[in-house]
Amino acid sequence: MIDKRVFATITGVGHYLPEKVLDNKYFETIVDTSDEWIMTRTGIKERRMIEDGATSDLGARAVLDLLKSKNMSPEEIDCIITATVTPDYFFPNTTCLIQQKIGAVNAWGYDVNAACSAFLFALESAAGLVESGKYKKVVVVGADKMTSITDYQDRNNCILFGDAGAAVLLEPTEDPKYGIKDSILRIDGTGRDFLMMKAGGSAMPASEETVKNRLHYIYQEGKSVFKFAVKGMADVSYEIMQKNNLTSEDVAWLVPHQANLRIIDATAQRMGLQKEKVMINIDKYGNTTAATIPLCLVEYYRNGKLKKGDNVILAAFGAGFTWGSLYLVWGMDNV
Ligand code: COA
Repeated sequence: MIDKRVFATITGVGHYLPEKVLDNKYFETIVDTSDEWIMTRTGIKERRMIEDGATSDLGARAVLDLLKSKNMSPEEIDCIITATVTPDYFFPNTTCLIQQKIGAVNAWGYDVNAACSAFLFALESAAGLVESGKYKKVVVVGADKMTSITDYQDRNNCILFGDAGAAVLLEPTEDPKYGIKDSILRIDGTGRDFLMMKAGGSAMPASEETVKNRLHYIYQEGKSVFKFAVKGMADVSYEIMQKNNLTSEDVAWLVPHQANLRIIDATAQRMGLQKEKVMINIDKYGNTTAATIPLCLVEYYRNGKLKKGDNVILAAFGAGFTWGSLYLVWGMDNV
């Protein structure tokens, strides 16, 4: 008997947002900045901060929200892939901690570290597992406690980041109309010098000196990253449209990584998309790294804007450099 080909499609979503809000007024009290500067340069008004947990708590709560909305038990999960740049520990990986916290006793899994592009990379990996036919229920989590690596004395960076977790469930479908269709993913290690955490790894282990020199925080040359991000994200988002013969009319949604509203606008412009077709929540949550894209999907699906059959392009850019775009057709029934 010949096995039927299966396609990987998103069949469930969930998220978790910490209650504590850090608004721009708060940053005016801790660094030399203004609400006006932050809004015009980044588009960010507020971001969240978790006070009662780590990245695995953000991720676990997002998966529990997903399971509740699906009326599904954690035992059913075959595999969990966690996209994060702020793991609870170097080891064990954050996926093990999420697995234990939600009681996914039949799951295996692993972490993916690709900074702001990690959710895309994890989704691509998960799709491969589902399409192989071996795994039926694969959960992809994007979770980051960015406040744990943010230097609140550095006005260039502290205003940008926030905490959140979000998750999607991937399952096989035999219907070729829906699911993940294509991707263009890229890495370039020469980007290392522009965006990194300098100390704490094997290249520069933690020491009194590294702590004193504040090397355990995000280091970023914002202007350079901005330029690379605009080009990288816009190029691959345009390329994936070309490759799949999609016009701007055909695309229902661009789901861009939420790092800076100006980067998002440039990407949409290159794709010829009107603003109404771009998912944006950077104003409310800032840059939550691996969580931005699934967070958009959850919000826009639950508020009824993301609909079954919509052509959706996900796009991201992050440290490494890492970047990419992924084309999918939304297959969940409308809420
Ligand atoms: N408030 C007020 N002024 C600030 C500030 C703040 N929070 N942060 C920086 N400035 C100042 C700078 O010191 C600089 O002053 P100077 O001209 O006297 O030196 C001035 O504002 C302009 O800084 P610049 O770096 O040119 O601003 P920018 O328009 O490039 O915006 C970022 C800065 C960080 C918002 C922008 O470069 C960016 O978003 N980069 C990408 C970051 C990113 O998304 N990274 C995540 C991975 S994708």
